[in-house]
Amino acid sequence: MRVTVLTGGATAERAVAFAGAAQVVAALRGRGHEVYVVDTAGGLLTRADEAQALAPAVGKTPPSTAELETRERQMLSEELASLPVVQGADVLFLALHGGTGEGGILQALLDVIGVPYTGSGPLASALAMDKDVSKQLFRAAGVPVPAWFLAPVTPEDVTAALGWPVIVKPSKQGSTVGLTLVKKPEGLEAAVRLAAQYDDEVMAEQFIPGRELTVGVLGDVPLPVGEIIPKHELFDYECKYTPGMSEETFPAKLAPKLARQLQEYALLAHRALKLGGYSRIDFRLSLDGDIFCLEANTLPGMTGTSLLPQAARAAGIEFPELCERICQLARNKRSGRGG
Ligand SMILES: Nc1ncnc2c1ncn2[C@@H]1O[C@H](COP(=O)(O)OP(=O)(O)O)[C@@H](O)[C@H]1O
Ligand SMILES: [Mg+2]
Repeated sequence: MRVTVLTGGATAERAVAFAGAAQVVAALRGRGHEVYVVDTAGGLLTRADEAQALAPAVGKTPPSTAELETRERQMLSEELASLPVVQGADVLFLALHGGTGEGGILQALLDVIGVPYTGSGPLASALAMDKDVSKQLFRAAGVPVPAWFLAPVTPEDVTAALGWPVIVKPSKQGSTVGLTLVKKPEGLEAAVRLAAQYDDEVMAEQFIPGRELTVGVLGDVPLPVGEIIPKHELFDYECKYTPGMSEETFPAKLAPKLARQLQEYALLAHRALKLGGYSRIDFRLSLDGDIFCLEANTLPGMTGTSLLPQAARAAGIEFPELCERICQLARNKRSGRGG
């Protein structure tokens, strides 16, 4: 297969994208595929560029992106479609997170270019990126979600409708960037201001104390449930990307009935947003044993130790095979899809 990995991008999750790309590229080359790498906010990477850019270390805080945005705009509007490695690819592997690359804009452009790409289409990508719309659709599909509403929000609103502590987060972000657990009314304003730096829509959400669970979906089949025990109170950026900062168990130690229920909800959530190929759905399990769905990830982390690859491994699918299957799912899809 000729696979071109699209990675980098102009988002706070750029370093995370490169870390995933490094391993996807190695895995696919190891299986004998012809693999090229394009930074959507840079261009085609030579092997020397690759060695430098595709570093596995993510760092403790997200990188700054302002200068990259201009370059990305130029790439997407002028250069990407005419790159021979894009036009001639059997499949484009999207190792991107956040922004244009995950939110449906790149997917729409790739539908126009007409080359198959991994993951969900433009509509599904945009729905999943928007946590407010996602949760409305989850709820309509019978998947339980924490109570929430969009800012403006006063401490009185929180006390009346959500209770304290409360989670404040940007509606369209990822990697726990801009998210705060607000314990007291005095902290609300600053938390909303922080979240507003990342998105013009900010949500206040009922905090669910308890366990952190995630379910991968691969080609319409839910993978074994995973549990994450972060070293911090929340599964924050540092815990997500620093080895040793969270403990992960696949399959999670859960009563079989509860695990099946989570898998069923994951599949319902996947379908509710019309997701394609693969996804990873995040949940909280309350102290009373109630399940709450937080969000769907259309391009979940893809380093060998990321959650979806761990879930696949628990189902007997090793990382290189997972990468190949994700490519195959993309190639099997008709082009011009809506989802
Ligand atoms: N309502 C909530 N209750 C408890 N923890 C939450 C809640 N919302 C978010 N979190 C914590 O913050 C993390 C990131 O939130 P999430 O909604 O998955 O956004 P993203 O991963 O896209 O940044 C979660 O994995 C969880 O640890
Ligand atoms: Mg999440």
